[in-house]
Amino acid sequence: MISKPNNMPTHMNRRNWLKSGAMMAGGFMVAPNLQWNLTNTANQIAARLYGLPADEEARLILERPALKARLLANENPFGPSKKAKEALISEIDKGYLYGFEKSLEFAKLLADKYKLTEFGERSWGPARPTQLMLGAGSTELLLAASVAFGQNEQRILSADPTYMSLIRSGQNVGAEWDSVPLTKDYVHDLNRLSDSLTDQHSLVYICNPNNPTGTSVNPDEMRAFCKEVSKKKPIFIDEAYIDYTPDPDKYSMADLVTEGYNVIVTRTFSKMHAFAGLRIGYTLAQADVITEMSKYSNGNGNIACTSMAAAIASYLDTEYHQYAREMNQKSKEFLYKTLEDAGYEYLPSDTNFVLFPVRIESSRFAQEMMKRGVGVRSWSFDNKEWCRVSIGTMEEMEYFAEAFNQIS
Ligand SMILES: Cc1ncc(COP(=O)(O)O)c(C=O)c1O
Repeated sequence: MISKPNNMPTHMNRRNWLKSGAMMAGGFMVAPNLQWNLTNTANQIAARLYGLPADEEARLILERPALKARLLANENPFGPSKKAKEALISEIDKGYLYGFEKSLEFAKLLADKYKLTEFGERSWGPARPTQLMLGAGSTELLLAASVAFGQNEQRILSADPTYMSLIRSGQNVGAEWDSVPLTKDYVHDLNRLSDSLTDQHSLVYICNPNNPTGTSVNPDEMRAFCKEVSKKKPIFIDEAYIDYTPDPDKYSMADLVTEGYNVIVTRTFSKMHAFAGLRIGYTLAQADVITEMSKYSNGNGNIACTSMAAAIASYLDTEYHQYAREMNQKSKEFLYKTLEDAGYEYLPSDTNFVLFPVRIESSRFAQEMMKRGVGVRSWSFDNKEWCRVSIGTMEEMEYFAEAFNQIS
Protein backbone atom coordinates (compact mmCIF):
# COMPACT_ATOMS: atom_id res chain seq x y z
CA MET A 1 0.00 0.00 0.00
CA ILE A 2 1.25 3.50 -0.77
CA SER A 3 1.14 5.84 2.21
CA LYS A 4 0.16 9.51 2.10
CA PRO A 5 3.08 11.94 2.48
CA ASN A 6 3.05 13.61 5.91
CA ASN A 7 2.63 17.12 4.59
CA MET A 8 -0.21 16.34 2.21
CA PRO A 9 -3.16 18.67 2.93
CA THR A 10 -5.88 16.71 4.71
CA HIS A 11 -8.67 18.37 2.76
CA MET A 12 -7.41 16.89 -0.51
CA ASN A 13 -10.00 14.35 -1.61
CA ARG A 14 -9.95 11.84 -4.40
CA ARG A 15 -11.80 14.14 -6.77
CA ASN A 16 -9.18 16.84 -6.35
CA TRP A 17 -6.47 14.30 -6.97
CA LEU A 18 -8.05 13.26 -10.20
CA LYS A 19 -8.83 16.81 -11.27
CA SER A 20 -5.33 18.12 -10.79
CA GLY A 21 -3.50 18.35 -14.10
CA ALA A 22 -0.24 17.49 -12.38
CA MET A 23 -1.63 14.10 -11.52
CA MET A 24 -1.73 13.03 -15.10
CA ALA A 25 1.37 12.39 -17.13
CA GLY A 26 0.99 11.82 -20.83
CA GLY A 27 -2.56 10.58 -20.46
CA PHE A 28 -1.93 7.85 -17.84
CA MET A 29 -2.05 7.89 -14.08
CA VAL A 30 1.32 8.01 -12.35
CA ALA A 31 2.16 6.45 -8.98
CA PRO A 32 0.57 8.43 -6.10
CA ASN A 33 3.92 9.28 -4.48
CA LEU A 34 5.14 10.73 -7.72
CA GLN A 35 1.80 12.46 -8.20
CA TRP A 36 2.22 14.13 -4.88
CA ASN A 37 5.74 15.25 -5.76
CA LEU A 38 4.58 16.76 -9.01
CA THR A 39 1.68 18.57 -7.36
CA ASN A 40 3.85 19.71 -4.53
CA THR A 41 6.39 21.16 -6.94
CA ALA A 42 3.66 23.04 -8.79
CA ASN A 43 2.42 24.39 -5.47
CA GLN A 44 5.88 25.46 -4.42
CA ILE A 45 6.34 27.35 -7.65
CA ALA A 46 2.96 28.97 -7.18
CA ALA A 47 3.72 29.72 -3.53
CA ARG A 48 6.86 31.52 -4.65
CA LEU A 49 4.94 33.46 -7.30
CA TYR A 50 2.27 34.58 -4.85
CA GLY A 51 4.40 34.90 -1.73
CA LEU A 52 2.06 32.66 0.27
CA PRO A 53 2.67 30.09 2.96
CA ALA A 54 2.96 26.75 1.13
CA ASP A 55 -0.10 25.15 2.81
CA GLU A 56 -2.35 28.06 1.98
CA GLU A 57 -1.04 28.10 -1.56
CA ALA A 58 -1.57 24.38 -1.95
CA ARG A 59 -5.21 24.83 -0.93
CA LEU A 60 -5.66 27.79 -3.26
CA ILE A 61 -4.10 26.09 -6.25
CA LEU A 62 -5.98 22.85 -5.80
CA GLU A 63 -9.29 24.63 -5.44
CA ARG A 64 -8.76 27.50 -7.83
CA PRO A 65 -10.94 27.86 -10.90
CA ALA A 66 -9.29 27.22 -14.25
CA LEU A 67 -7.36 30.31 -15.36
CA LYS A 68 -9.46 32.40 -17.72
CA ALA A 69 -6.69 34.93 -18.22
CA ARG A 70 -3.03 33.95 -17.78
CA LEU A 71 -1.49 37.36 -17.24
CA LEU A 72 1.42 36.43 -15.00
CA ALA A 73 4.45 35.55 -17.15
CA ASN A 74 4.59 38.22 -19.86
CA GLU A 75 3.91 35.72 -22.61
CA ASN A 76 2.54 36.78 -25.98
CA PRO A 77 -0.80 35.17 -26.82
CA PHE A 78 -0.86 36.62 -30.38
CA GLY A 79 1.62 34.14 -31.78
CA PRO A 80 3.72 32.29 -32.79
CA SER A 81 3.31 33.50 -36.35
CA LYS A 82 1.74 31.24 -38.97
CA LYS A 83 5.04 31.12 -40.87
CA ALA A 84 6.92 30.10 -37.73
CA LYS A 85 4.48 27.26 -37.13
CA GLU A 86 4.78 26.06 -40.74
CA ALA A 87 8.58 26.12 -40.54
CA LEU A 88 8.52 24.20 -37.27
CA ILE A 89 6.31 21.48 -38.71
CA SER A 90 8.36 21.12 -41.88
CA GLU A 91 11.57 20.77 -39.85
CA ILE A 92 10.25 17.82 -37.85
CA ASP A 93 11.42 15.27 -40.41
CA LYS A 94 14.99 16.42 -39.73
CA GLY A 95 14.48 16.07 -35.99
CA TYR A 96 16.83 13.08 -35.87
CA LEU A 97 19.79 15.36 -36.76
CA TYR A 98 21.68 17.65 -34.39
CA GLY A 99 20.90 21.22 -35.40
CA PHE A 100 24.41 22.28 -36.57
CA GLU A 101 23.29 23.56 -39.95
CA LYS A 102 20.17 25.30 -38.62
CA SER A 103 22.13 27.07 -35.91
CA LEU A 104 24.66 28.23 -38.48
CA GLU A 105 21.88 29.54 -40.73
CA PHE A 106 20.32 31.38 -37.79
CA ALA A 107 23.70 32.73 -36.62
CA LYS A 108 24.41 34.05 -40.12
CA LEU A 109 21.10 35.95 -40.20
CA LEU A 110 21.90 37.58 -36.87
CA ALA A 111 25.49 38.31 -37.93
CA ASP A 112 24.13 40.14 -40.99
CA LYS A 113 21.62 42.12 -38.95
CA TYR A 114 24.21 43.25 -36.42
CA LYS A 115 27.00 43.59 -38.99
CA LEU A 116 29.27 41.25 -37.04
CA THR A 117 32.61 40.96 -38.77
CA GLU A 118 34.60 38.54 -36.59
CA PHE A 119 34.31 34.87 -37.55
CA GLY A 120 36.27 32.12 -35.88
CA GLU A 121 37.40 28.78 -37.23
CA ARG A 122 36.14 25.74 -35.36
CA SER A 123 37.90 22.40 -35.05
CA TRP A 124 35.35 21.20 -37.59
CA GLY A 125 32.51 22.79 -39.51
CA PRO A 126 32.29 26.26 -41.01
CA ALA A 127 33.39 29.45 -39.22
CA ARG A 128 30.86 31.08 -36.88
CA PRO A 129 30.49 34.64 -35.60
CA THR A 130 32.63 34.87 -32.46
CA GLN A 131 30.61 37.75 -30.97
CA LEU A 132 27.38 35.76 -30.86
CA MET A 133 26.08 32.99 -28.64
CA LEU A 134 22.71 31.26 -29.03
CA GLY A 135 20.65 29.86 -26.18
CA ALA A 136 17.47 27.90 -25.56
CA GLY A 137 15.78 31.09 -24.36
CA SER A 138 17.71 33.88 -22.68
CA THR A 139 17.58 32.36 -19.18
CA GLU A 140 20.47 30.02 -19.98
CA LEU A 141 22.47 33.01 -21.24
CA LEU A 142 21.70 34.95 -18.05
CA LEU A 143 22.78 31.87 -16.12
CA ALA A 144 26.04 31.56 -18.07
CA ALA A 145 26.78 35.25 -17.37
CA SER A 146 25.87 34.86 -13.71
CA VAL A 147 28.53 32.17 -13.30
CA ALA A 148 31.14 33.94 -15.42
CA PHE A 149 30.67 37.25 -13.57
CA GLY A 150 29.38 36.03 -10.21
CA GLN A 151 31.51 33.11 -9.06
CA ASN A 152 34.38 33.60 -6.62
CA GLU A 153 32.55 36.34 -4.72
CA GLN A 154 32.50 38.83 -7.56
CA ARG A 155 30.15 41.84 -7.17
CA ILE A 156 27.25 42.65 -9.47
CA LEU A 157 25.69 46.13 -9.59
CA SER A 158 22.11 46.73 -10.73
CA ALA A 159 18.97 48.75 -10.14
CA ASP A 160 16.31 47.58 -7.68
CA PRO A 161 13.66 46.48 -8.46
CA THR A 162 14.70 44.72 -11.62
CA TYR A 163 14.62 41.26 -13.20
CA MET A 164 16.49 39.08 -10.74
CA SER A 165 17.38 35.95 -12.71
CA LEU A 166 21.06 36.77 -13.35
CA ILE A 167 21.55 38.26 -9.89
CA ARG A 168 19.88 35.39 -8.00
CA SER A 169 21.84 32.78 -9.98
CA GLY A 170 25.00 34.78 -9.35
CA GLN A 171 24.28 34.84 -5.62
CA ASN A 172 23.88 31.07 -5.73
CA VAL A 173 27.49 30.77 -6.86
CA GLY A 174 28.75 33.30 -4.33
CA ALA A 175 28.24 36.72 -5.95
CA GLU A 176 27.57 39.84 -3.90
CA TRP A 177 24.86 42.21 -5.11
CA ASP A 178 24.87 45.99 -4.82
CA SER A 179 21.73 47.84 -5.84
CA VAL A 180 20.65 51.37 -6.65
CA PRO A 181 16.98 52.47 -6.45
CA LEU A 182 15.14 53.58 -9.57
CA THR A 183 14.43 57.30 -10.04
CA LYS A 184 11.17 58.80 -8.75
CA ASP A 185 9.72 58.00 -12.19
CA TYR A 186 10.75 54.35 -11.75
CA VAL A 187 13.40 54.46 -14.49
CA HIS A 188 17.04 53.34 -14.16
CA ASP A 189 19.08 56.03 -12.40
CA LEU A 190 22.10 56.05 -14.71
CA ASN A 191 23.96 58.75 -12.77
CA ARG A 192 23.66 56.87 -9.50
CA LEU A 193 24.62 53.60 -11.13
CA SER A 194 27.69 55.25 -12.59
CA ASP A 195 28.61 56.85 -9.23
CA SER A 196 28.13 53.54 -7.41
CA LEU A 197 30.43 51.55 -9.68
CA THR A 198 33.72 50.57 -8.05
CA ASP A 199 36.77 48.48 -8.94
CA GLN A 200 35.20 45.69 -6.90
CA HIS A 201 32.37 45.21 -9.40
CA SER A 202 32.59 42.57 -12.10
CA LEU A 203 29.41 43.52 -13.97
CA VAL A 204 26.65 46.11 -14.28
CA TYR A 205 23.26 44.50 -15.06
CA ILE A 206 20.62 46.65 -16.74
CA CYS A 207 17.23 45.34 -17.79
CA ASN A 208 15.96 47.76 -20.43
CA PRO A 209 12.99 48.06 -20.66
CA ASN A 210 12.89 47.10 -17.02
CA ASN A 211 10.90 44.24 -15.55
CA PRO A 212 8.75 44.75 -13.40
CA THR A 213 8.27 48.49 -14.08
CA GLY A 214 7.96 48.36 -17.91
CA THR A 215 9.93 51.61 -18.16
CA SER A 216 12.83 52.19 -20.52
CA VAL A 217 15.73 54.60 -20.44
CA ASN A 218 16.05 57.45 -22.92
CA PRO A 219 18.13 55.81 -25.70
CA ASP A 220 20.57 58.70 -26.11
CA GLU A 221 21.29 58.78 -22.38
CA MET A 222 21.64 55.00 -22.31
CA ARG A 223 24.07 55.06 -25.22
CA ALA A 224 26.23 57.74 -23.58
CA PHE A 225 26.18 55.80 -20.29
CA CYS A 226 27.17 52.54 -22.01
CA LYS A 227 30.01 54.14 -23.95
CA GLU A 228 31.46 55.72 -20.82
CA VAL A 229 30.87 53.06 -18.17
CA SER A 230 31.81 50.05 -20.34
CA LYS A 231 35.36 51.42 -20.45
CA LYS A 232 35.54 50.53 -16.75
CA LYS A 233 33.38 47.41 -16.42
CA PRO A 234 31.25 45.21 -18.70
CA ILE A 235 27.56 46.12 -18.88
CA PHE A 236 25.01 43.35 -19.35
CA ILE A 237 21.89 44.72 -21.05
CA ASP A 238 18.86 42.44 -20.88
CA GLU A 239 16.75 43.52 -23.86
CA ALA A 240 13.97 40.93 -23.46
CA TYR A 241 11.27 43.56 -24.15
CA ILE A 242 13.13 45.80 -26.61
CA ASP A 243 10.82 44.83 -29.50
CA TYR A 244 7.95 46.67 -27.78
CA THR A 245 9.78 50.01 -27.49
CA PRO A 246 8.82 52.84 -29.88
CA ASP A 247 11.97 52.25 -32.00
CA PRO A 248 13.72 48.94 -31.19
CA ASP A 249 16.81 49.61 -33.35
CA LYS A 250 17.37 52.94 -31.60
CA TYR A 251 16.62 51.65 -28.09
CA SER A 252 18.83 48.59 -28.49
CA MET A 253 22.51 48.87 -27.61
CA ALA A 254 23.46 45.92 -29.85
CA ASP A 255 25.34 48.14 -32.31
CA LEU A 256 27.80 49.04 -29.52
CA VAL A 257 29.09 45.46 -29.66
CA THR A 258 30.03 45.94 -33.31
CA GLU A 259 31.67 49.23 -32.37
CA GLY A 260 33.89 47.34 -29.92
CA TYR A 261 32.38 48.42 -26.56
CA ASN A 262 32.35 45.98 -23.66
CA VAL A 263 28.59 45.54 -23.55
CA ILE A 264 26.78 42.20 -23.42
CA VAL A 265 23.38 42.46 -25.10
CA THR A 266 20.94 39.60 -24.59
CA ARG A 267 17.67 39.20 -26.43
CA THR A 268 14.92 36.63 -26.42
CA PHE A 269 12.28 35.36 -28.83
CA SER A 270 9.98 34.66 -25.85
CA LYS A 271 8.19 37.99 -25.96
CA MET A 272 7.27 39.66 -29.28
CA HIS A 273 7.99 36.45 -31.24
CA ALA A 274 5.83 34.44 -28.79
CA PHE A 275 8.43 31.67 -28.40
CA ALA A 276 8.36 31.33 -24.58
CA GLY A 277 7.72 27.60 -24.95
CA LEU A 278 9.92 27.17 -28.03
CA ARG A 279 13.03 28.61 -26.32
CA ILE A 280 15.26 30.88 -28.41
CA GLY A 281 17.60 33.61 -27.17
CA TYR A 282 20.96 35.08 -28.09
CA THR A 283 23.78 37.18 -26.71
CA LEU A 284 26.01 39.65 -28.55
CA ALA A 285 29.28 40.57 -26.86
CA GLN A 286 33.00 40.83 -27.45
CA ALA A 287 34.57 37.49 -28.44
CA ASP A 288 36.49 37.01 -25.17
CA VAL A 289 33.28 37.48 -23.16
CA ILE A 290 31.43 34.99 -25.39
CA THR A 291 34.29 32.51 -24.89
CA GLU A 292 34.01 32.92 -21.12
CA MET A 293 30.21 32.64 -21.04
CA SER A 294 30.32 29.61 -23.38
CA LYS A 295 32.11 27.64 -20.67
CA TYR A 296 28.82 27.55 -18.75
CA SER A 297 26.36 26.69 -21.49
CA ASN A 298 25.93 24.14 -24.21
CA GLY A 299 24.81 27.05 -26.44
CA ASN A 300 23.61 26.04 -29.90
CA GLY A 301 23.51 22.42 -28.83
CA ASN A 302 20.68 23.09 -26.39
CA ILE A 303 18.28 24.39 -29.01
CA ALA A 304 15.84 22.14 -30.88
CA CYS A 305 16.31 22.31 -34.65
CA THR A 306 12.53 22.79 -34.97
CA SER A 307 12.65 25.90 -32.77
CA MET A 308 15.57 27.26 -34.78
CA ALA A 309 13.72 26.75 -38.07
CA ALA A 310 10.69 28.49 -36.57
CA ALA A 311 12.85 31.34 -35.24
CA ILE A 312 14.34 31.97 -38.68
CA ALA A 313 10.83 32.16 -40.17
CA SER A 314 9.60 34.42 -37.37
CA TYR A 315 12.63 36.68 -37.63
CA LEU A 316 11.96 37.21 -41.36
CA ASP A 317 8.20 37.68 -40.91
CA THR A 318 8.13 41.46 -40.42
CA GLU A 319 4.37 41.57 -41.06
CA TYR A 320 3.89 39.42 -37.97
CA HIS A 321 6.13 41.73 -35.89
CA GLN A 322 3.89 44.65 -36.74
CA TYR A 323 0.76 42.62 -36.00
CA ALA A 324 2.10 41.43 -32.60
CA ARG A 325 3.00 44.99 -31.59
CA GLU A 326 -0.35 46.39 -32.72
CA MET A 327 -2.36 43.74 -30.88
CA ASN A 328 -0.28 44.31 -27.76
CA GLN A 329 -0.88 48.06 -27.98
CA LYS A 330 -4.63 47.65 -28.46
CA SER A 331 -5.01 45.44 -25.39
CA LYS A 332 -2.68 47.72 -23.41
CA GLU A 333 -4.81 50.77 -24.18
CA PHE A 334 -7.91 48.90 -23.03
CA LEU A 335 -6.07 48.08 -19.78
CA TYR A 336 -4.99 51.71 -19.30
CA LYS A 337 -8.60 52.84 -19.70
CA THR A 338 -9.86 50.18 -17.27
CA LEU A 339 -7.41 51.45 -14.65
CA GLU A 340 -8.12 55.12 -15.37
CA ASP A 341 -11.90 54.58 -15.13
CA ALA A 342 -11.40 53.10 -11.66
CA GLY A 343 -9.20 56.05 -10.62
CA TYR A 344 -6.00 54.00 -10.53
CA GLU A 345 -2.55 55.19 -11.60
CA TYR A 346 -0.12 53.03 -13.59
CA LEU A 347 3.38 53.23 -15.03
CA PRO A 348 3.18 53.81 -18.81
CA SER A 349 4.83 50.76 -20.28
CA ASP A 350 7.19 50.06 -23.19
CA THR A 351 6.55 46.34 -22.83
CA ASN A 352 3.84 43.69 -22.84
CA PHE A 353 3.00 44.20 -19.16
CA VAL A 354 1.87 47.07 -16.92
CA LEU A 355 2.71 47.76 -13.27
CA PHE A 356 0.23 49.69 -11.13
CA PRO A 357 -0.15 50.44 -7.42
CA VAL A 358 -2.95 48.60 -5.63
CA ARG A 359 -4.83 49.65 -2.50
CA ILE A 360 -4.57 46.42 -0.53
CA GLU A 361 -1.64 44.14 0.18
CA SER A 362 -0.42 43.09 -3.27
CA SER A 363 -0.23 39.34 -2.56
CA ARG A 364 -3.86 39.47 -1.38
CA PHE A 365 -4.81 41.38 -4.50
CA ALA A 366 -3.19 38.66 -6.64
CA GLN A 367 -4.98 35.94 -4.65
CA GLU A 368 -8.34 37.66 -5.10
CA MET A 369 -7.70 37.93 -8.84
CA MET A 370 -6.63 34.28 -8.95
CA LYS A 371 -9.88 33.24 -7.24
CA ARG A 372 -11.65 34.93 -10.14
CA GLY A 373 -9.56 33.03 -12.69
CA VAL A 374 -7.12 35.84 -13.51
CA GLY A 375 -3.40 35.27 -12.89
CA VAL A 376 -1.30 38.37 -12.15
CA ARG A 377 1.89 39.02 -10.14
CA SER A 378 2.47 41.11 -7.02
CA TRP A 379 5.35 43.35 -5.85
CA SER A 380 6.09 45.53 -2.82
CA PHE A 381 8.63 48.33 -3.10
CA ASP A 382 8.96 52.07 -2.50
CA ASN A 383 6.43 51.70 0.34
CA LYS A 384 3.78 50.73 -2.18
CA GLU A 385 1.96 47.58 -3.14
CA TRP A 386 1.98 46.79 -6.85
CA CYS A 387 0.31 44.50 -9.32
CA ARG A 388 2.00 43.50 -12.58
CA VAL A 389 -0.41 42.42 -15.27
CA SER A 390 0.76 40.96 -18.58
CA ILE A 391 -0.94 42.02 -21.79
CA GLY A 392 -3.23 39.31 -23.10
CA THR A 393 -5.86 39.00 -25.79
CA MET A 394 -8.77 41.42 -25.63
CA GLU A 395 -10.89 38.61 -24.18
CA GLU A 396 -8.35 38.08 -21.40
CA MET A 397 -8.20 41.82 -20.69
CA GLU A 398 -11.98 41.85 -20.40
CA TYR A 399 -11.77 39.04 -17.83
CA PHE A 400 -9.13 41.10 -16.04
CA ALA A 401 -11.41 44.17 -16.06
CA GLU A 402 -14.35 42.20 -14.71
CA ALA A 403 -12.33 40.71 -11.83
CA PHE A 404 -10.50 43.99 -11.16
CA ASN A 405 -13.76 45.97 -10.98
CA GLN A 406 -15.08 43.51 -8.40
CA ILE A 407 -12.18 44.05 -6.01
CA SER A 408 -10.93 47.60 -6.75
C1 LIG B 1 13.75 40.75 -18.39
C2 LIG B 1 13.68 39.31 -18.71
N1 LIG B 1 14.80 38.71 -19.14
C3 LIG B 1 14.82 37.41 -19.45
C4 LIG B 1 13.67 36.64 -19.32
C5 LIG B 1 13.77 35.18 -19.60
O1 LIG B 1 13.09 34.82 -20.72
P1 LIG B 1 13.46 33.55 -21.60
O2 LIG B 1 14.32 32.63 -20.84
O3 LIG B 1 12.15 32.97 -21.96
O4 LIG B 1 14.19 34.10 -22.79
C6 LIG B 1 12.48 37.23 -18.89
C7 LIG B 1 11.25 36.43 -18.76
O5 LIG B 1 10.20 36.87 -18.42
C8 LIG B 1 12.50 38.60 -18.57
O6 LIG B 1 11.41 39.23 -18.12
